[in-house]
Amino acid sequence: MAFKSASESQITMSLLMTPEHSNFGGKVHGGYVLMLMDQIAFACASKHSGNYCVTASVNKVDFLNPINVGELVHLRASVNYTGRTSMVIGLRVESEKIQTGEIKHCNSSYFTMVAKDDDGKSVPIPGLIINSESGVRRFSRSIQRKDQVLARAERFDENEFQAEEYISLIEGENLQLKLKR
Ligand SMILES: CC(C)(COP(=O)(O)OP(=O)(O)OC[C@H]1O[C@@H](n2cnc3c(N)ncnc32)[C@H](O)[C@@H]1OP(=O)(O)O)[C@@H](O)C(=O)NCCC(=O)NCCS
Repeated sequence: MAFKSASESQITMSLLMTPEHSNFGGKVHGGYVLMLMDQIAFACASKHSGNYCVTASVNKVDFLNPINVGELVHLRASVNYTGRTSMVIGLRVESEKIQTGEIKHCNSSYFTMVAKDDDGKSVPIPGLIINSESGVRRFSRSIQRKDQVLARAERFDENEFQAEEYISLIEGENLQLKLKR
């Protein structure tokens, strides 16, 4: 299977934020921004893999700054990690106040996308050619993030979970413990 560099599938998209996507507070809906992020992640993953892709997971979305109606939103997507059939797409969203050129970082997120064939079966994708230290950083960070997610899922598996081990962790939090044993 061939290898490809991230620059071959990197995508940028800019959109003007219009009033129909605003919430009651006059800012752009977070859900609308998430949809745009999913679209650009899909486009980037499909371009890298040469296949239709689905979103397997999103990790994670912090809304750092609100986006105002009338601002220009810039979304950038590139492949950070390649597994066998899955890819992690790194996304960065910025807003620009058109009149002044002021840029705000609105969020960064990581979408795991899986390539599918026409029968809906997961299919192998090209690996990533890494030619910079920041590429090494992004790839390794994706592996670590994946390992941490797996470890957490195992630790909190409902069949394995031991509540006693966590009592001291939650004591002192905003709760009343009334365990029925
Ligand atoms: C996610 C999905 C593709 C996994 O498919 P599957 O047949 O169970 O595939 P596998 O277990 O073989 O996993 C395929 C790859 O996806 C990865 N993967 C599966 N679930 C994942 C998750 N929750 N998070 C991150 N990666 C995941 C696996 O690690 C594997 O990666 P690799 O091939 O690079 O090693 C499948 O569950 C699916 O189609 N989900 C629905 C997706 C969808 O509809 N998205 C839109 C939601 S509206």
